[in-house]
Amino acid sequence: MFAKVLPVFAAVAGIASAANSACTKTTFTLSSQADIDALSSCSTLTGDVVLSGSTAAALNIGSIETIDGDLTLTNNNIISTLQSSTLEKVTGAFHLQNLTTLSTLSFTKLTSVGSINFISLTTLNALTFTAGVTSADSIVISDTFLASLDGIDVKSADTININNNRRLVEYTSSIGNLSTLLNINANGQDLAVNFPNLIWIANMTISNVSSFSIPSLKVVNGSMRFDSNFFSNFTAPNLTSTTSGDVSFVSNADLTNITIPGLTTVGGGFQIANNTALNKINGFDKLKTVNGAIKMRGNFTEIDLPALGDVKGAFSIVSTSDITDSCTAFKKLSSSSNGGNGDIQGTFTCESDVANANSDTNPTSTSSSSGSKSTGTDSGAAGLSVNSLAVLGLAGVAVFAQLL
Ligand SMILES: *[C@@H]1O[C@H](CO)[C@@H](O)[C@H](O)[C@H]1NC(C)=O
Ligand SMILES: *[C@@H]1O[C@H](CO)[C@@H](O)[C@H](O)[C@H]1NC(C)=O
Ligand SMILES: *[C@@H]1O[C@H](CO)[C@@H](O)[C@H](O)[C@H]1NC(C)=O
Ligand SMILES: *[C@@H]1O[C@H](CO)[C@@H](O)[C@H](O)[C@H]1NC(C)=O
Ligand SMILES: *[C@@H]1O[C@H](CO)[C@@H](O)[C@H](O)[C@H]1NC(C)=O
Ligand SMILES: *[C@@H]1O[C@H](CO)[C@@H](O)[C@H](O)[C@H]1NC(C)=O
Ligand SMILES: *[C@@H]1O[C@H](CO)[C@@H](O)[C@H](O)[C@H]1NC(C)=O
Ligand SMILES: *[C@@H]1O[C@H](CO)[C@@H](O)[C@H](O)[C@H]1NC(C)=O
Ligand SMILES: *[C@@H]1O[C@H](CO)[C@@H](O)[C@H](O)[C@H]1NC(C)=O
Ligand SMILES: *[C@@H]1O[C@H](CO)[C@@H](O)[C@H](O)[C@H]1NC(C)=O
Repeated sequence: MFAKVLPVFAAVAGIASAANSACTKTTFTLSSQADIDALSSCSTLTGDVVLSGSTAAALNIGSIETIDGDLTLTNNNIISTLQSSTLEKVTGAFHLQNLTTLSTLSFTKLTSVGSINFISLTTLNALTFTAGVTSADSIVISDTFLASLDGIDVKSADTININNNRRLVEYTSSIGNLSTLLNINANGQDLAVNFPNLIWIANMTISNVSSFSIPSLKVVNGSMRFDSNFFSNFTAPNLTSTTSGDVSFVSNADLTNITIPGLTTVGGGFQIANNTALNKINGFDKLKTVNGAIKMRGNFTEIDLPALGDVKGAFSIVSTSDITDSCTAFKKLSSSSNGGNGDIQGTFTCESDVANANSDTNPTSTSSSSGSKSTGTDSGAAGLSVNSLAVLGLAGVAVFAQLL
């Protein structure tokens, strides 16, 4: 950002010395080690640095300590080593993409980066970030050969997206909060994820992990979604609420136990579907309020939500097994026309022995669902195409109102 402003400012103000002006440019396009070495008098480069067209097997960023701009190297299948023992800070993006021969990435003093975008670094098996990057707003690590992300450990971030790193089997971060999105998917099958200090997080979508530890997490400001994971137990011992988004567990084949003992409020919808080893839902002892819909599909024999007292949307539970006892208990919370006390404000469905219960994993689709109102049935409501379970909740109310 500053890169484009500062040169103009410097020129206008006439304060740049000859040496300094050599260190300021909109874009430094450097295509060889000689090009880099020509900037050896610059400890700070103000401007974007693009390493382009180099045919060298190794590049050393030389004596530069700060890049006030982006550092970019893309589409190169010759370089094997990119290094610097001086660079401490990149204010913009550190963007490396489609470097199929890069095997050594050594930035021993680097601590602060605006964002990290490491994509398609298919032979990179380790980061030599000795000092360790402790500050970055956004981290995207995709399609690398990394077995570890040691060397990157930030305290807070907007976005972290770790995907398609097939060798990655462990990811531990001391991050305390994350303000937009955490996405983890399609990494190594045995990926164990640990966020011991995470207190709040906006949104998270987690897939294909073998364990997910969030002992301190208190609040999810957005939604949390767990799809196709390999863990058998899930617990969030300190989680009390999700303030606006959905909570979803879908197609986690090994899952036998979900326990979120302190969860009182789900700000959006609450979905549990196609986790076929999950026979009992009994880990939500304090769940009182669901501002969207509740939708559960599975091989359940028992569903207990003992504190449930306020469901704004539809309530729809379908099991392959007999859940008559659970249904009898929940019916008491349905609308008065159903003989209930009205705690559940949307439509009420609770069905046992439906062989294909698990085939409905679809909570969320498009909002152009008014057509399905005409069906007016509970199965119609379950099949509504809507943006989120929260919307499904409202749609459910509308359907119900029409039926009255
Ligand atoms: C990756 O970089 C190579 C050159 O190293 C280029 O030929 C190829 O088209 C690039 N691939 C993509 C997807 O950009
Ligand atoms: C986010 O976490 C960091 C590190 O734990 C902390 O210093 C900061 O105060 C937190 N910010 C908010 C808004 O909670
Ligand atoms: C998320 O919720 C926590 C706790 O209520 C709050 O401190 C934080 O500011 C919220 N973050 C966002 C991005 O809304
Ligand atoms: C969560 O993501 C949704 C869109 O996917 C976005 O609208 C919402 O603002 C995010 N929540 C937060 C707290 O960032
Ligand atoms: C990984 O998760 C995705 C859903 O996000 C799923 O479609 C895919 O089948 C999963 N892969 C494995 C190997 O479990
Ligand atoms: C869980 O919450 C309790 C009460 O707020 C707190 O004392 C405890 O330290 C938290 N546990 C973790 C691991 O953060
Ligand atoms: C996971 O839960 C099962 C029972 O549902 C239990 O046998 C097993 O010990 C648990 N594993 C862990 C790691 O807690
Ligand atoms: C489910 O997990 C919780 C929390 O980890 C544990 O306390 C409980 O014993 C587990 N239940 C079963 C049946 O394994
Ligand atoms: C879940 O129920 C279906 C339908 O009854 C059955 O075919 C399947 O084997 C069950 N899965 C498990 C893991 O029990
Ligand atoms: C249900 O989960 C299994 C994995 O356990 C997956 O193969 C299947 O496609 C999922 N069904 C649906 C409808 O998503």
